[in-house]
Amino acid sequence: MDISKQIRKNIQQLKPYSSARDEFEGEAAVFLDANENPNPSAFNRYPDPHQKQLKRKISELKKINDDQIFLGNGSDEAIDLLLRAFCEPGEDEVLIPQPTYGMYSVSASVNDVKTNSVSLTKDFDIDPEAIFSAVTPRTKIIFLCSPNNPSGNLLSTQKVIDVINTFNGLVVIDEAYIDFADSPGFVESLHRYPNLVILQTLSKAWGLAGLRLGICFANVEIISILNKIKPPYNISSITQSVAFDKLRQVEVKDRQVREIVAQRKIMEARLGESKIVKRVYSSDSNFLLVQMQHARKVYERLLSKGIVLRDRSNVILCDDCLRITIGTSAENQLLIDELKKI
Ligand SMILES: Cc1ncc(COP(=O)(O)O)c(C=O)c1O
Repeated sequence: MDISKQIRKNIQQLKPYSSARDEFEGEAAVFLDANENPNPSAFNRYPDPHQKQLKRKISELKKINDDQIFLGNGSDEAIDLLLRAFCEPGEDEVLIPQPTYGMYSVSASVNDVKTNSVSLTKDFDIDPEAIFSAVTPRTKIIFLCSPNNPSGNLLSTQKVIDVINTFNGLVVIDEAYIDFADSPGFVESLHRYPNLVILQTLSKAWGLAGLRLGICFANVEIISILNKIKPPYNISSITQSVAFDKLRQVEVKDRQVREIVAQRKIMEARLGESKIVKRVYSSDSNFLLVQMQHARKVYERLLSKGIVLRDRSNVILCDDCLRITIGTSAENQLLIDELKKI
């Protein structure tokens, strides 16, 4: 697939903004180029627009070249930039198997890009044939989410590969929850698929949702387009330095992931014993989709006790379903205790 043909014409022709820090790189004694306040403080200088140190760390961890990494203000920024780079507003379309994370279609709407939807199967896997029959000549991006939100399951690897191999456009796989799954995900296969884009985030397993750092992996051509259109200083100095420190603590992240997964298994069993629970869907992430009797009433009752779940009962394939994030063992216990009283 020729990526350059997929990029919007105005973006191909765009002359990107060149920031002061783009035009001079290196050591100097006196910086009078960026209209900063000269009085030293932790933040008086603009951050590195290319986040070189942080990307080097991610490149080491993920075993991928740093020019195949784009960093955004959360994954949401990467989603938005992909739509802006590849979809002509008012003309192009994206395809989204549902139910899934809502931001793909919201971001598409913001960019005046039409969303076509197909249903996942009833066990929340993709159906490649349904996807191919919903692709139109204007479909530029297919968004897949694995493990999927709100169902929690990994999509079948072979079906995902079928979609990547067959679709003549970008396939974005959102792996926000991949650290909780017993799967390496697709980063290690990126070199095989020029049309593949992978999203990950520090908001979940790495415990930095408040920081806002999303990671996008793709081939060099796609990454350079995202870099061309991003705001020059989209990742703050504090985000770069806190993320860098956190990424050095892989064993802390791994331990927390193990604890969360162990808690998920306990919760799966306990919820399964509850008489108001109809079904606990199997999960590869840090949450469980649970079908209940009278889900909305259960949701409201728990809310009145100060416990907030995510009501997904109005979502396709999720009748009477609540999505439950795995908390600490004390928080999980409180939830179980309250459910027993219902
Ligand atoms: C599948 C999925 N992708 C992305 C995000 C958001 O990621 P970020 O915090 O990096 O914007 C979420 C948040 O819930 C999510 O469920």
